[in-house]
Amino acid sequence: MKLSVQQSTLRRIRTDGVAVFVRQDKKYFIRDLSAVQKLFGKKIDQVIKLENFKGKEAELISMFTEKKINAPRLFIAGLGEEKKLSLEQYRRASAAVVKKAKASNVKHLSFSLPAMDSKHTTQKIAQDEVAYALAEGAILAHYNYDKYFTEKKDENGKVTDLTIFDSSEAMVKLLKKRLHETRIICEATYLARDLENAPSNEIFPETLAEAAQKSAAKYGYRAIIWDKKRIEQAGFGGLLAVNSGSHRPPRFIILEYNSGQKELDTIVLIGKGITFDTGGISIKPANNMAEMKMDMSGAAAVIGTFEATARLKLPIHLVGLIPATENMPSGSAMKPGDIITHYGGKTSEVDNTDAEGRLILADPLAYAATYKPKAVIDLATLTGACVVALGHHATGMMGNDKELMEKLKEAGEKTYERVWQLPLFEEYEKQIKSDVADVKNTGGGKGAGAITAALFLKKFIGDYKWVHLDIAGTAILEEALPYAPKGGSGVGVRLLVEFLKNWKK
Ligand code: BES
Ligand code: MN
Ligand code: ZN
Repeated sequence: MKLSVQQSTLRRIRTDGVAVFVRQDKKYFIRDLSAVQKLFGKKIDQVIKLENFKGKEAELISMFTEKKINAPRLFIAGLGEEKKLSLEQYRRASAAVVKKAKASNVKHLSFSLPAMDSKHTTQKIAQDEVAYALAEGAILAHYNYDKYFTEKKDENGKVTDLTIFDSSEAMVKLLKKRLHETRIICEATYLARDLENAPSNEIFPETLAEAAQKSAAKYGYRAIIWDKKRIEQAGFGGLLAVNSGSHRPPRFIILEYNSGQKELDTIVLIGKGITFDTGGISIKPANNMAEMKMDMSGAAAVIGTFEATARLKLPIHLVGLIPATENMPSGSAMKPGDIITHYGGKTSEVDNTDAEGRLILADPLAYAATYKPKAVIDLATLTGACVVALGHHATGMMGNDKELMEKLKEAGEKTYERVWQLPLFEEYEKQIKSDVADVKNTGGGKGAGAITAALFLKKFIGDYKWVHLDIAGTAILEEALPYAPKGGSGVGVRLLVEFLKNWKK
């Protein structure tokens, strides 16, 4: 979908379909519809009445314009109540329009940018931010994973162009300068979604590394790939133990952007890269096991974030660490009771081979200290327990630094990739005490599974500020959300890019 900005009006814009956005409160409803009203008069009142359109969230009218304007089709999208208005309402309304436009074979879609000055709203939302949110909702909702269909289902049902128009020259100028940032962030989210949705016979450790290399070469950041021998030399015992059941060799992917720029702060991102999680010898039930092709969603988010960060040229020294392997059962697989020595020398007891994520993350968490980072953030589809606790609408957040968590919380609210903190009370630590090693890889079935997993990770961190994001529920969607289809959501990319953009502020 091509994105463009134009100085124009509802009457003049030439397009296949034009959308206006309307709040539901009586006063605002009339105001938001006034331009439409002026052009269509009574017809609009009739349509609104017939469709029982109130301007509520997710409501949408699609009508023919009978040549009153230069677009054959008009969409009127509801935003809900003024007092509940945030950027998210614009993303959702825009997503609803795009889905309808797609189904109606509208190729060139145009949005009338809502006015946001104090005469028009009591909310403190900048008008250009509304434009970015509308574009974001549209692009993200337009995603579908159809790579493997031999007959593309909706080849002609694609919106090829999106134009946002406004009558103000200054606004158009600003958007022309900055709207491409939205496109970059959405494309990075697409990349993460594609990597997640790809089956494990396409994306496995070697090909995941290749995908990272390809993005790095294209956008000017560094990707260094360690093979099994190099991983052995480094002593990444967790990654090797989890890999031991798989016939596919592991990879350790090191990404770096702005390396060598000493004046910049260093931030390390770590992503869980299990390209398929069978559970290993502690094998998972067959039901829904296929979704474990997405157990590399943390890695996908890190690669997507690197791509966006490099394209946006953010002033930060970014390091990405991705341990990648399958978790398979076999004659050579690790077994319950095994003891692993991780990078840095600490040991862990394998109580359950299905708690493999924490095992492969322990090595890079310890290794991250060598970069002397200002912050370390890991992303992992780590526990089913996190899905039980928070479902699919919030990422579980745990860490050792209040300020860092606050920053992520703010980025989460802005992007609507919301995070929710869970406690790391020391009383929980007892659950991961091992009789034979420094730590045990399960919490012994006594609840708080997301927390005990994070406490395991905490054992391996260095002297740095750290946040763990459990994206098990938010990365893998069993049902579509307003602008994310079922499957991989690409969660983490928009969150982290927003966080990195604001790093120095
Ligand atoms: N990858 C899974 C966690 C997961 C489950 C992610 C469902 C997304 C949806 C992880 O490796 C795992 O299997 N965790 C176990 C840990 C348990 C054995 C302590 C779990 O959550 O059941
Ligand atoms: Mn597992
Ligand atoms: Zn897993």
